[in-house]
Amino acid sequence: MMNILIIHGPNLDILGKRDKNIYGKLNLEEINYIIENKAKEENINVIIFQSNFEGEIIEKIHDAMDNNIDGIIINPAAFTHYSIAIRDAIEAITIPVIEVHLSNIYSRETFRNKSVIAPVCTGQITGFGHNSYLLALNMLKLMINS
Ligand code: DQA
Repeated sequence: MMNILIIHGPNLDILGKRDKNIYGKLNLEEINYIIENKAKEENINVIIFQSNFEGEIIEKIHDAMDNNIDGIIINPAAFTHYSIAIRDAIEAITIPVIEVHLSNIYSRETFRNKSVIAPVCTGQITGFGHNSYLLALNMLKLMINS
């Protein structure tokens, strides 16, 4: 069975309370439940991790190499826009990584229009709410099986 690691970055643990007009009303537990159900249907094993700490996210990316992870879906949240350290960690591994966002980062404040992470990812999916994660799951399945 394919193993996919999902990483949720900072402040995504308070989804449901935070800017509902932008991020929707589902909390992270509800989103994770939807992801897990979709993964089950697709016969994919998902490991879900959330952290508000840059270093913990970096270590999780490093560990993916030794833990039999076939692909990573990451919502780096605010780190998207400035974490060269997360970018370097992703660049260093050979596993496919898809960057996802709930909101469309290109239709918001200009400081969100730039991702320092996207250039080292396989691709980016932005603006489809929690469905961004499901689209990324589909893409990884297609890529890894081909
Ligand atoms: C986000 C977009 C980021 O700009 C923001 O800092 C987040 C969430 C999204 O999923 O839309 O925390 O990554």
